[in-house]
Amino acid sequence: MKKILIINGPNLNMLGKRETNIYGKKTLVEIEKECKEMFKKKNISLIFFQSNSESQIVEKIQSISNNFDGLIINAAALTHTSISIHDSLKLLDIPIIEVHLSNISKREEFRKNSMISSIATGVVFGFGSSVYNIAIVALNLYWEENENK
Ligand code: DQA
Repeated sequence: MKKILIINGPNLNMLGKRETNIYGKKTLVEIEKECKEMFKKKNISLIFFQSNSESQIVEKIQSISNNFDGLIINAAALTHTSISIHDSLKLLDIPIIEVHLSNISKREEFRKNSMISSIATGVVFGFGSSVYNIAIVALNLYWEENENK
């Protein structure tokens, strides 16, 4: 059984209500349900975590150690500012996929910089709530390719 932690940062608890023209109408709880439904036969355990607090996210990352096989992270606005999340991700020895629902490259200038991309194994953005499912598939392919190396 592979275990994936899916971390969501500030304001993502407001999905479904928040700027629905950009982020869509699904809530984070609905996204979590859909992901679990899609991968239920795949022998993968998906643990969702959301916090509006940078320190709680850093503490969550610090607690990962050997407990997970992969991390998917949408650090939301903290993506663009957080050196502490950047530093905590450096502790990890598991594949990390950075995700964003929106296409951060075609929005405001301040969203173009990510403190996470340089640490991530890969990045998925711009496909709305499907980015989570795409990232889970990407992790599966990554494990297949790298397992026996
Ligand atoms: C986001 C993009 C960020 O710039 C923004 O601050 C968010 C959501 C996304 O998923 O598109 O809160 O991470």
